[in-house]
Amino acid sequence: MVEIVAKSSQILALLRSYAEADEPRFLRTAMQLAAHEARQGHSKLAEDIRKLVDEAKTRRGVLERRGNAIPLARPTGELADLLRVSYPETRLGDMVLPHQVRATLERLLREHRQQARLAEHGLSARRHLLLVGPPGTGKTLTASAVAGELKLPLFVVRMEGLLTRYLGESASKLRLVFEAMERNRGVYLFDEFDAIGADRGAGNDVAEVRRVLNAFLQFIEEDRSESICIAATNHFASLDSALMRRFDDIIRYELPDREQVEQLLLTRLESFDPSQLNLTTIAKTAEGLSYAEIVRACEDAAKDMVLEGRERLGMDDVTRALEARRHGRLAT
Ligand SMILES: Nc1ncnc2c1ncn2[C@@H]1O[C@H](COP(=O)(O)OP(=O)(O)OP(=O)(O)O)[C@@H](O)[C@H]1O
Ligand SMILES: [Mg+2]
Repeated sequence: MVEIVAKSSQILALLRSYAEADEPRFLRTAMQLAAHEARQGHSKLAEDIRKLVDEAKTRRGVLERRGNAIPLARPTGELADLLRVSYPETRLGDMVLPHQVRATLERLLREHRQQARLAEHGLSARRHLLLVGPPGTGKTLTASAVAGELKLPLFVVRMEGLLTRYLGESASKLRLVFEAMERNRGVYLFDEFDAIGADRGAGNDVAEVRRVLNAFLQFIEEDRSESICIAATNHFASLDSALMRRFDDIIRYELPDREQVEQLLLTRLESFDPSQLNLTTIAKTAEGLSYAEIVRACEDAAKDMVLEGRERLGMDDVTRALEARRHGRLAT
């Protein structure tokens, strides 16, 4: 008889991903389960799970290749230089977010999932978002999650590149991007947005920045596409106020508080059996670090554990990795 050994949280995660038809997550959780079983010394069971996952992946690969008869939206020609496309599988549930931010994003998703219904009443879904906050707080990840949730491609526009590489013709390049938004429905992320959004006077090529900014204001006003336009920036203070008025929502991202750090630690260390760790104590060490820094520290701690041939994460592993991140930051 097969002993029931899986952790209940992993069974729940499996069921949840099944219910949400999130196959990549389902398979990821199954692999975590295999690792968990291996650590418990159930190597035969672990091996069987891995084999099943591999078979499932192969089958999926075959199906996907068949599905690819329909061409994916790939930018070509001039656009290939301006846009980078990806098909994220990120979900909003993968992120740790303050309640208010999650609510705003869920509202956006809800409106897009029921666009047709809104249209029947002459209403349209909100489509222009401005994300503001320090590095590593989840702005880019949010764009991926919105794309992942709505099963849309994510197109990243490099603003800085747009300005420096096409001096004198940035505005016309920007028009190309907005035209693409009409043709190919997707999530368009304008990263490093302060490159054009900066107030008069900031930066070197003031005239060029001004031209692009005015072009952006005009394009966004005329934008009737079904795409979602997300602008992200670290610097709020320097943004032009006329520009800010054009967005449906301005979402602020902050460094995580204690509770959010704990939540993040829990999700990132889930597959390494954190039951023996006092996450509240560890969270104190993480004060002032960004989500991105904490995620990397968790990975460092897990790698140390694996490479040193240990079965469980210790408190020290995690606090040491967090301290190292903090010092690393001070050094740079
Ligand atoms: N809110 C969050 N919840 C969970 N993980 C997060 C969150 N924010 C950041 N991360 C982790 O940090 C990584 C980097 O985050 P992201 O690229 O979204 O930061 P950013 O805000 O865009 O930073 P930058 O301003 O430097 O572009 C993510 O891939 C993810 O692993
Ligand atoms: Mg980013």
